[in-house]
Amino acid sequence: MSMDASSNSELDRICDLVRACGRIIRDVDRTGLHVASKEGKANFVTEYDKLVQDRLQAGLREIVPDARFVGEEGSADRYSPKGKYFVVDPIDGTTNFIKDFHISSISVALIVDGAAELAVVHNPYTDEMFSARRGGGAFCNGKPIHVSAEPLERGIVVFGTAPYHVELAQPTFDLAFRYFRKALDIRRCGSAALDLCSVAAGRAELFFELTLAPWDHAAGGLIVQEAGGTISDFDGGPLAFDHDCAVLARGAGVSDADIERPECR
Ligand code: IPD
Ligand code: CA
Ligand code: CA
Repeated sequence: MSMDASSNSELDRICDLVRACGRIIRDVDRTGLHVASKEGKANFVTEYDKLVQDRLQAGLREIVPDARFVGEEGSADRYSPKGKYFVVDPIDGTTNFIKDFHISSISVALIVDGAAELAVVHNPYTDEMFSARRGGGAFCNGKPIHVSAEPLERGIVVFGTAPYHVELAQPTFDLAFRYFRKALDIRRCGSAALDLCSVAAGRAELFFELTLAPWDHAAGGLIVQEAGGTISDFDGGPLAFDHDCAVLARGAGVSDADIERPECR
């Protein structure tokens, strides 16, 4: 079997696993949902974040047995740029999940020797499955997707508020205001992985957040790149998979001159 054929079948199996886990999120019995606080403002975790992560970890181990696992809800493995790692957010958009807001996702990336190789982001409420394999294009429910070619002035800007870092609130909203003045409008949806897929699918022209964890951007970032967009920090540098960093993603029509940068760097 060629490399492409084997990684395609791995990608299909990851999509099947993620779809099954998505049903857990979508069909949750909300009576007695247990919510616990984590570090920082409005940073919550439910028993479903942990349950879905455990299911993903067990299933991914069967699909790629030699890959290690780094998940938001804790894991024994520490990321290193050598070897294979799954980088996973079991529920991206936990606050939306708690509020039954129907914008949450499962995000799974396979990183090989420091580069994202496979990516899956699934919104169980809309039944959209975004996927990408490095060099193989980006897809939504099996159909190719591409970033928008619209300029910023005819674009939508999606952004994250870095809600667990109150010190970033003022520079975040200052930046959002500057983009609001340049673009058609702004959106704050609550799942960074889905925000990145919105850029990949040409529904939004630009995404920014002043700090994100690797599991927030690892899968969505590859999907953006494979859809023809760019993802970087605010200086154009590559994103880290071993620590938090600022994230800027954009479609093909947003020029360098249109990029606004935060004032707190
Ligand atoms: C959060 C979401 C949110 C973003 C935060 C993330 P979580 O992830 O992606 O949109 O603004 O920075 O931490 O905590 O719901 O997995
Ligand atoms: Ca997240
Ligand atoms: Ca999460």
